Amino acid sequence: MAQQSEALPATARADQREALGNANGDQRGPRAGREPRAKRPTSREAERSEASERAADPGSLRVASPTGGMEPDDVVFLAGASGGTGREVLRSLGGREPTIRALTRSARKRERLRAVGADDVVVEDLLDPADLGGALEGVDVVLSAVGSGVTEVFSSGQFVDGAGTVALLEAAVEAGVDAFVMESALGVGDEPASAMAAAFDLFIGPVQRAKADAEAAIREAPVRHTILRPGVLTGGARTDDVTVADPGAKLWGFVPRADVARLMAAAPVTPAAADRTFEVVATPSFRDRGLGVDWGVPGSG
Ligand SMILES: NC(=O)c1ccc[n+]([C@@H]2O[C@H](COP(=O)([O-])OP(=O)(O)OC[C@H]3O[C@@H](n4cnc5c(N)ncnc54)[C@H](OP(=O)(O)O)[C@@H]3O)[C@@H](O)[C@H]2O)c1
Repeated sequence: MAQQSEALPATARADQREALGNANGDQRGPRAGREPRAKRPTSREAERSEASERAADPGSLRVASPTGGMEPDDVVFLAGASGGTGREVLRSLGGREPTIRALTRSARKRERLRAVGADDVVVEDLLDPADLGGALEGVDVVLSAVGSGVTEVFSSGQFVDGAGTVALLEAAVEAGVDAFVMESALGVGDEPASAMAAAFDLFIGPVQRAKADAEAAIREAPVRHTILRPGVLTGGARTDDVTVADPGAKLWGFVPRADVARLMAAAPVTPAAADRTFEVVATPSFRDRGLGVDWGVPGSG
C-alpha cells in the first residue's frame, strides 16, 4: 500500500471495534464479499506521478485521485449537498464514480442537485427525519457538510451541527457504513486554539458547542471516522496546497471549500486519516505545523 507517509499506531479502540464486528457477524465492517477498502489497487499512472511530486513537500495537501479514491461501486451519502462545500464535493465526485446520494431538506432542489452530479436525491430534515435508515441503505461512506444558517444560530434549540449530525451518525452506524466524515470548524473542542478560532465562539458559540457534541459522538461511535476543522471557508478554485495539522496546532486563516471537499472525499481511503481529527487551512501556510498526510488512494503513490 502506498500513500501513507506517517505510521499510525493501531489504536486499542480500532482493535476493539474489529473484535466487536467479528462478534456481531461483522455488521459494521466492510460488507460481505467486499475486500477491505485499503487493499484495493488503482492503476492511475498520472496520479502516481502527481503524488510523488507532492511527496517532496511535507506539510501540504497531497491527493492522488480526482475521485478522491472512491471505488466505482461505492455509494456515498452526501449530507449538505446543496451547500457551499457540498456542491464542491459534487463537483469533484459527481458524474463519475462512485454513486452519490445527496441529502437536502427541499424537494425543490432535487433537479438542481441532479444537474450538478447527484445520482440520487433524498429529501429529509436531519432535525426531524422520517426515514433516515431507508436513506442510508446500501451506503458505504457518509460525508457530512451540513451547517446551520446565520439566522438559525441564536434562534434554535437544536442544531443540525449537533443533534442533526448525531442522528445521521446513529443511522449510519445502524446501516453499517464503512466511514463517516464530518466537516466541523476551527475552535471546536477543548484543545488550545488560535485567537481567530477562539473568536468563532463569540459569534457562533452555540453552534460550535453543538459541533463539539457531534464530534464527541463520532469519536465514540463504532465506525471509522475523519473530522476536519477548517478555517474560514472561501470560494474559488482548489489549491491542493493546504496545511493539515493535529488539533491544538492553533492554525488560523482561510481555506477554499474546494480543498475541504477534496479532503472529505479522500479521507475514507486515506489510511493516515482513519479515526483522526485535523485542523485545516490554506492561507497562511503553516508548513512547520503540518502533518505529512498523503490524501489519496492506496496503490497510487
Ligand atoms: N463559513 C465558514 O467560514 C465556515 C468555517 C469553518 C467551518 N464551517 C462549517 O463547514 C460546514 C459547511 O459550511 P458551508 O458554508 O459549506 O455550508 P452551507 O452552504 O451553509 O450549507 C449548509 C448545508 O446544510 C444543510 N442543512 C442545514 N440544515 C439541515 C437539516 N436540518 N437537515 C439536513 N440538511 C441541513 C443545507 O441543506 P438544505 O438547505 O438543502 O436542506 C445545506 O446544504 C458547516 O458545518 C459550517 O459550520 C464553516
